[in-house]
Amino acid sequence: MSNVAIIGGTGLTRLEQLEITKREVVHTPYGEPSGTITHGTLCGKNVLFLPRHGAGHTIPPHKINYRANIWALNNLGVERIVAIAAVGAIDSAFVPTSLGIPDQIVDYTWSRKNTFFEEGLDEVVHIDFTYPYDAELRRLLIQACTEAKVDFCDAGTYAAAQGPRLETAAEINRYARDGCTMVGMTGMPEAALARELGMAYATCAVSVNWAAGRSEGEITMAEIQKCLGKGMDNVRAMFERLVPLL
Ligand code: HPA
Repeated sequence: MSNVAIIGGTGLTRLEQLEITKREVVHTPYGEPSGTITHGTLCGKNVLFLPRHGAGHTIPPHKINYRANIWALNNLGVERIVAIAAVGAIDSAFVPTSLGIPDQIVDYTWSRKNTFFEEGLDEVVHIDFTYPYDAELRRLLIQACTEAKVDFCDAGTYAAAQGPRLETAAEINRYARDGCTMVGMTGMPEAALARELGMAYATCAVSVNWAAGRSEGEITMAEIQKCLGKGMDNVRAMFERLVPLL
């Protein structure tokens, strides 16, 4: 049994290096998770894997059942989550294909089921979320990126956008003024839900495009796909160093 789970995002619906031992269907009080949870060994360690958008990458960011995903992992005894997330780069240092280990979040999402604490409460619950990502997991991710010699940013502020459309240039300018250095669509409420259940959670972001207005012209899926391929090579190299450290 493992206490570590990897949540895969766009470009990571399966982990090729994972030697699968079991696939498990988990039903939760919040509905169905994005798919079956895969148990296996990665670089000699037991890990669980869940593709956030489903095995066939069919669930858009605003339709993901984040509560079911986090509850299911927690119910299987997971204590630490490494989340992989494709993002657009706002900061000029976060060049597409490079990795980033964000340390802060600004949440621009709306109308998502974003808490476990809303019904049948003895009292109202407010979790601390000053530092949304787990410091120790972030340290290990940074060490793994360093050892793997991949290009990466060791900090950053993740703008959680609602999607599924990409942003306007003005929205990205606003996020930049707010201090955001990257933009994605799935970082929230995932991080907050993990914290609500007392699980350590950190994100390895993969820059797959310049955010809207940060490069000439429009954002094309072809450009994103190209950067996703190279970015995921960097993620795989990072995993080879990370997993033994976990
Ligand atoms: N915006 C939001 N989410 C994203 C982007 C983007 O530019 N690229 C990948 N995920």
